[in-house]
Amino acid sequence: MIKITDQLEFHLSTKNTSYIMKILDSKHIGHLYYGRKIREKNNYDHLLQNYTLPLGNATDYSTETKHFTLDSTPVEVGSYGKGDYKQPSIELSYKDGSTVSDFLYQSYDVYDGKRNLEGLPSSFANEDSAKTLEITLYDSIVNVSLVLSYSVFYEKDIITRHVKVINDSKEDVMINKIMSCNIDFQDSKFDLITLDGKWIKERHINKKQLSEGIFMIDSKRGVSSSTHNPFMCLSRPLTTESNGECYGFSLMYSGNHQGSVEVNPHQLTRLQMGINPFDFMWTLKPTDIFQSPEVVMTFSSDGYNGMSHNYHDFINEHIVALHWQKKSRPILINNWEATYFDFDEKKIVKLAKEAHKLGIELFVLDDGWFGKRNDDTTSLGDWFENKKKLPNGLEGLSKKINDIGMDFGIWVEPEMISVESELYKKHPDWAIKNPNREVSFGRNQLILDLCNDEVVEYLFDILSDVFKRSKVKYVKWDMNRNFSDAYSNVLPSNRQKELNHRYMLGLYNLLEKLTKAFPEILFESCASGGNRFDMGMLYYMPQTWTSDNTDALERQMIQYGTSMVYPISTMGAHVSAIPSHQVLRNTPIETRYNVAIFGLLGYELDVTKLSNFEKKVIIKQINYYKKHRQLLQYGRFNRLNTPFDSNITTWMVSNKTQHIIGNYQKLQVPNEGFESIRLVGLNPDKDYEINSREQYFNVKSFGDLINQVSPVKMKENGIVHQLVSDNYLFEANKESFEAGGDELMYAGLKLKHQFIGTGYNESLRHMGDFGSRVYLLEEKN
Ligand code: GLA
Repeated sequence: MIKITDQLEFHLSTKNTSYIMKILDSKHIGHLYYGRKIREKNNYDHLLQNYTLPLGNATDYSTETKHFTLDSTPVEVGSYGKGDYKQPSIELSYKDGSTVSDFLYQSYDVYDGKRNLEGLPSSFANEDSAKTLEITLYDSIVNVSLVLSYSVFYEKDIITRHVKVINDSKEDVMINKIMSCNIDFQDSKFDLITLDGKWIKERHINKKQLSEGIFMIDSKRGVSSSTHNPFMCLSRPLTTESNGECYGFSLMYSGNHQGSVEVNPHQLTRLQMGINPFDFMWTLKPTDIFQSPEVVMTFSSDGYNGMSHNYHDFINEHIVALHWQKKSRPILINNWEATYFDFDEKKIVKLAKEAHKLGIELFVLDDGWFGKRNDDTTSLGDWFENKKKLPNGLEGLSKKINDIGMDFGIWVEPEMISVESELYKKHPDWAIKNPNREVSFGRNQLILDLCNDEVVEYLFDILSDVFKRSKVKYVKWDMNRNFSDAYSNVLPSNRQKELNHRYMLGLYNLLEKLTKAFPEILFESCASGGNRFDMGMLYYMPQTWTSDNTDALERQMIQYGTSMVYPISTMGAHVSAIPSHQVLRNTPIETRYNVAIFGLLGYELDVTKLSNFEKKVIIKQINYYKKHRQLLQYGRFNRLNTPFDSNITTWMVSNKTQHIIGNYQKLQVPNEGFESIRLVGLNPDKDYEINSREQYFNVKSFGDLINQVSPVKMKENGIVHQLVSDNYLFEANKESFEAGGDELMYAGLKLKHQFIGTGYNESLRHMGDFGSRVYLLEEKN
């Protein structure tokens, strides 16, 4: 809903939120309010506090607007040079060398629906699901227009924002900084949450209290990065997962970004997000338009879970392509951690046959199938089969996989080029590198210059050929290095600072063309795991490889943090071998699975080497996932207990009548007290049947103690012990009972006590180090 009064107050409202702006006497756009919904009125002037006497050494905006200073006024655009000393959201420079801008109200327009952003990913809507307000501001001294767009998704409690700059003058204008959103709050009582990390430790939750000064997250890596996800959350103190107020801001962009929060001396808080102004400058020729990416904003008074629900629904319905919405995603096997580069057709077919017997549906051939790629030093760019490994080519292998009864998928890393490659011999100028410097490598490779249309065309053609020939149903699109040596051979010297953004435009153009040409292919994006997990990539590729870290304990933190913004239907999650290849930790196979099912399930280990125990367990796991796939992939996800400051992680996923709960323990605690889980989202008036998932232990996890319960005595690690461990399924204690939704939410799901060191019986719940349980709750009629 968008309501505009005669005094030019703009009230954007969603089901539960209000966003209010006003054209001030000075003609700037003032920001009056964002938060919990308030009633419609004709005048909200009282929401705007300002000083009525001179503010010491403040700069008055003009002689007409006496004592009015932009420094203490919350506004929608922060510009430099007229008395606002906070971070500007737009910085332009003009031919005369001046850097002062002042954008004043000119007009507005409202329409149903939402238009796509040109050349950039953007959320989509039909005429009923969103309304858009565009406010045009103008700086008449330099003849530049600024169009602010706000799209209001009523049902989703989401407002998206972006900005367009139009050069109406006769001279070039330089854009030094253009933020997609600027929002000023009149107080600073907030905590700030960002999702930070690094390779194999992505998107950990980082919370701090705001205080005076400027806090910034950014990426200079050319990708949105695992260092700082392009997301910020401001929450009121004491906000929890299910209570309290919080605001989310997420930038739909996959390249260099910046997010900042400034608290000024009057406790005004300014939050901005957009393309990183660092190493950025854009020449805007007369009549040219520059379009910023969009920021997706939300507010919830139902805690962090409320904010996440808004984002999850929005991504699932307004960002992920229609074709993939709510569509079941296949259980896949990926050969990377099983073989690395060391494979041939025979080995792959053997893996696929075994995987098929376990119930796996899709085989993904990872890195190493092309050129002379036997390690990571060569061949990126040479997208033709290595005939030594695949004598029958991709066609032959794909047919064999299909004949086994599985779909075939493939790994590519199209944005890259190895110096040792046929492509580099032909086109050394296609790599991003400075002609006057020795180039720096990342994973032995260079990046292709996607500012060059010829490169984009070439990639489209060669990839189309690979996809057609191999009849793939799935593509893993990887990107394994950060940018360095930024220099493009197709840009003049005064436009080199456009490289990073032009690269993104080239990439988005390529993805747009490919996903249009191959709408049936399921694309999963990847960047050394989760180095580019953002809404921009999700617009083209509906799922992302969450992290190269598949250790079940590390994944609890990674998936927990990721779920702040991104739904579980976007997170690739695999069961892999132990000890973990990333942290050398041993976790039970049931826990690896119990974590991976709160994502898109896959297996990434050598299934030809499984023990009978593991095979039997995996078959049961896969059956369970298939039975509950729709709920696990698209149910309402709630975080209940955080791994960041406790030994126990708990989360749950729900549809109307069914709920699956995952409960995980880091370390076994001696003689532990009772545990219960307060559930959410149940019907208090209904009764539920609760059943723990059938789970199995390897008898070896009990060591010599197994002799206390086994009728046959076994020597620890002896032949009998090994035989039993390989073949016998030792069932974990079952928990089955009935309880009311009210009891489960208000008193909690009362768990059986754990192993307390004095024996073992049917009524205890043995978890052990890195143990876990999954429970199914079904509503009774
Ligand atoms: C990256 C990916 C891995 C794997 C390798 C292959 O690290 O994240 O999953 O595909 O590349 O080289």
